[in-house]
Amino acid sequence: METELAKLKAERNAVILAHNYMPKEVQEVADYLGDSLDLALAAANADAKVLVFAGVYFMAETAAVLNPDKLVLIPDPSAGCTLVDSITAEDVLKWRARNPNGVVVTYINSSIEVKAVSDYVCTSANCHKIVEAIPRDRPVLFVPDRNLGAYIKYVTGRENLEIWSGTCYVHERMTRDVLYSVAEREADAELLVHPEASGTVDLLREGRLRVRVLSTQGMVKHVKERGRGAFIIATELGLLDRIRREAPEARLIPALEDAVCMYMKLITLDKIKRSLRELVYRVQVPEDVAKRARAAIERMLEFR
Ligand code: 13P
Ligand code: SF4
Repeated sequence: METELAKLKAERNAVILAHNYMPKEVQEVADYLGDSLDLALAAANADAKVLVFAGVYFMAETAAVLNPDKLVLIPDPSAGCTLVDSITAEDVLKWRARNPNGVVVTYINSSIEVKAVSDYVCTSANCHKIVEAIPRDRPVLFVPDRNLGAYIKYVTGRENLEIWSGTCYVHERMTRDVLYSVAEREADAELLVHPEASGTVDLLREGRLRVRVLSTQGMVKHVKERGRGAFIIATELGLLDRIRREAPEARLIPALEDAVCMYMKLITLDKIKRSLRELVYRVQVPEDVAKRARAAIERMLEFR
């Protein structure tokens, strides 16, 4: 690792947690690299005084809630997410008022205030297991991703599942037609799809193609286990950099050549160094909100 960064990390007793969509040079300096679930677990077990979160804001908020005694920093606090912006805590509370017996399951891509009014937080790696474990007679609200919600409904066959209408602007463009067209062009390749992709459920329902629906970490694991062969990767391009490093003999085809999350790419190596040098930008969550959000996040951690 670069000397200046190594020195700063040692001085601050810091670790860098990075999401799989980070730019390549950030992935290369990460102490923990993973999907949202891995990073929540790494944050919960991290042995350091300072956590630098190389990812988007909601991920750093989750790390802050799980580590009230640590200093959690995000190199650029404007790293947002279209899913987070699609729903407020008031929206959830209105549903709760109409459904006193209801259960709210919230994707980790949400604000800490929304998590605080939820029963469960989930990630793409464990959402269907969590919904499956809720008694069938209780109505469920899933927020905020409509594509992941549709996937959960398809897998669990649950009728009393209401779904919010948020979307990820990157995965929304991975439609049924886009996925069919790349799969036709690359007929020998295995198709790996993130459940935020808008075409996921259409493909599963139509059953014409063999599709594997996986979280980003699930895709890394799958390609590494195969070792070689061709894979269509229907998610953000940062993940392809990671897989290329760890499974160099595999041939990767992006479902969309320009699937780039502008929010993730706001995090750079220079900003990470500045974060450590100046101890900015601190992520803090008021304790009353943190306490309620923590309960919903910890319920999720039981479903690894
Ligand atoms: P995972 O890495 O948890 O699969 O989620 C992807 C994502 O879109 C995060 O913004
Ligand atoms: Fe949000 Fe989509 Fe970017 Fe993930 S890829 S952070 S879901 S906007």
